[in-house]
Amino acid sequence: MMAWISELWGSGTAAIEPASLRDAPRLAQLHGESFHRGWGEGEFEAMLAERNTLVHRLRMGRKIIGFAVSRIGADEAEILSIAVAASHRGRGLSRDLLLTHLGHLAGRGVRTVFLEVEENNQPARRLYERAGFGVAGRRERYYRQANGEQLNALLMRRDLS
Ligand SMILES: CC(C)(COP(=O)(O)OP(=O)(O)OC[C@H]1O[C@@H](n2cnc3c(N)ncnc32)[C@H](O)[C@@H]1OP(=O)(O)O)[C@@H](O)C(=O)NCCC(=O)NCCS
Repeated sequence: MMAWISELWGSGTAAIEPASLRDAPRLAQLHGESFHRGWGEGEFEAMLAERNTLVHRLRMGRKIIGFAVSRIGADEAEILSIAVAASHRGRGLSRDLLLTHLGHLAGRGVRTVFLEVEENNQPARRLYERAGFGVAGRRERYYRQANGEQLNALLMRRDLS
C-alpha cells in the first residue's frame, strides 16, 4: 500500500537490479510497447540465460518499469536495448538505469561500450550524450519503419575507466 501511495505521488524510489528468468514475460511486454520490432519472451529467456548478456531491471515498488540489456565480448560491450515504460518517462529514471548498468559492465572488465540509436530519437540521444557517449559513426537508412520509411542510425561510443 505504501509503495502504491508513494508511486502515485511520484516519490517512489526506483531500484535497479539484475533481472531474472521470471522477469522475461514483463520485459518482453515492455520491449513490445517501446519498439517497433519487439523481442518475445523466448528471446528474453535466452538472453537471461546467457553468460555474456547483462540484463538489469528498473523496479518501482513491485512493478518492473524498465530494463537495460547489453552483450559483452572481451573488453567491449554493446547496449542492445534500454527502455522505460511510457507512464514513467521524463523523470530521469533512464539515467540511473544506464549509469548503474555501465557500472556493472565496468565491473565485468568492459572498457568500451557501443550502441546504435535512431538519429531522430531525441530522448535517447540526450540520455546517451549526458551519460558521456559520443557519436562514432552514422549509418544511412539503417532502420526500416513499418510504413517503409528508412531512418539513419548513429553509432555511439563511451570508454569506461
Ligand atoms: C529513451 C528512454 C529510455 C528515456 O527514458 P526517460 O526515463 O524518459 O529519460 P529521461 O527522463 O532521463 O529523459 C532523457 C532526456 O531526453 C529529454 N527528452 C525527453 N523527451 C524528449 C522529447 N520528446 N524531445 C527531446 N528531448 C526529450 C529529457 O529532457 C532528458 O534530457 P535532459 O536530461 O537534458 O533533461 C525512453 O524514452 C524510452 O524508453 N524510449 C523508448 C525506447 C527507446 O527509444 N530506447 C532507446 C533505444 S536506442
